[in-house]
Amino acid sequence: MRIGTPLTKGATRVMLLGSGELGKEVAIELQRYGAEVIAVDRYENAPAQQVAHRSYVIQMTDAAALRALVEKERPHLIVPEIEAIATDELAKIEAEGLAEVIPTARAAQLTMNREGIRRLAAEELGLPTSPYAFAASAEDLRAGAAKVGFPCFVKPVMSSSGKGQSYVENAEGVQAAWDYAMAAGRVERQLVIVEGRIDFDYEITQLTVRARGASGEIETHFCDPVGHVQVKGDYVESWQPQKMTAKALASARDIAKKVTDALGGRGIFGVELFVKGDDVWFSEVSPRPHDTGLVTLVSQYQSEFALHARAILGLPVSTELLAPGASAVIYGGMDEQGIAFEGLDQALAVPGTEVRLFGKPESFQRRRMGVALARGADMAEARARAKEAASRVKPVKG
Ligand SMILES: Nc1ncnc2c1ncn2[C@@H]1O[C@H](COP(=O)(O)OP(=O)(O)O)[C@@H](O)[C@H]1O
Ligand SMILES: [Mg+2]
Repeated sequence: MRIGTPLTKGATRVMLLGSGELGKEVAIELQRYGAEVIAVDRYENAPAQQVAHRSYVIQMTDAAALRALVEKERPHLIVPEIEAIATDELAKIEAEGLAEVIPTARAAQLTMNREGIRRLAAEELGLPTSPYAFAASAEDLRAGAAKVGFPCFVKPVMSSSGKGQSYVENAEGVQAAWDYAMAAGRVERQLVIVEGRIDFDYEITQLTVRARGASGEIETHFCDPVGHVQVKGDYVESWQPQKMTAKALASARDIAKKVTDALGGRGIFGVELFVKGDDVWFSEVSPRPHDTGLVTLVSQYQSEFALHARAILGLPVSTELLAPGASAVIYGGMDEQGIAFEGLDQALAVPGTEVRLFGKPESFQRRRMGVALARGADMAEARARAKEAASRVKPVKG
């Protein structure tokens, strides 16, 4: 393991594809080890671009633009932060040995499309999942929904953060779900997945790190489970550790190990799981830091971002818990450019809290603009503190 000086010929160059709030924390961690950070996004002044050595604005789904930038910058590592990337081009770049893709180009390819990861998990690895079907037309969807049963979820295969997703209670809702998926998905005329609802007690993110151990072999490390609440496919609150039965925890880790082994490479993964009693179902996986894992900024010695930075640079990791912690999202609450925030002082007066404001140039009603984080003596205290701190931060017109 050897690392150069940034901004010199020998620099260790890392290119982030996607420069949101998760990428910003990864960039900061990489900077701490002296890596040279190049932050890419489709808009200017994205959060990670504000803390990077250089930044670029390109359409990351444009294969030619992506290749041209990689050839210009010659990064050693390419770190996807979002799903909407020309992943087939990443696979070529990796195969040519031009750069190493984190965790692997194949992982990025499989997880950018719900069909790829679902077929791998359910059909190849035999992991428990919700019943599902794919549909390429409203008619297909009617048959698929009838097969998996109501209520069900309909999701474009290429979408994230709840975009284009519907919860469908009966056959009458199918057409509207199809229309909504077609209008909101990332690409035209695409496939949807319909999933039967899992009636879970709670859902978790099992953060899992693949990092080089002392022997040089890749080892798998598990963080304590992160519990979270989702509203319309977007997380509003998370906490760590989520209490689980010993059996459920063992199943969660067994599933996480199998799916991360199959995706390979080095780095952190957010394995999303549904839990009911001792039973655990695989839902999806991010081969990168997970938004619900923002809580680890206060609850672990090494946050998920520090773990990712260490793992991808080939450094050792520790997933040890520091204290029970919680996170609560701060939304923009308005559609405006260049907003401001009041009450940060009052928020930070809540004991044991931290706040991150991401610095996004444009606010939307439901855009995540910041997060409040808190530690507590127990989970109830940590959650109450995080929510209180978040509520004291007031977005206002800039
Ligand atoms: N089959 C399902 N059963 C129960 N809840 C589901 C199911 N699919 C999705 N959900 C709920 O919707 C949320 C978002 O779904 P997910 O597939 O993770 O989409 P995204 O990629 O947008 O995060 C989940 O975290 C869960 O709360
Ligand atoms: Mg999800």
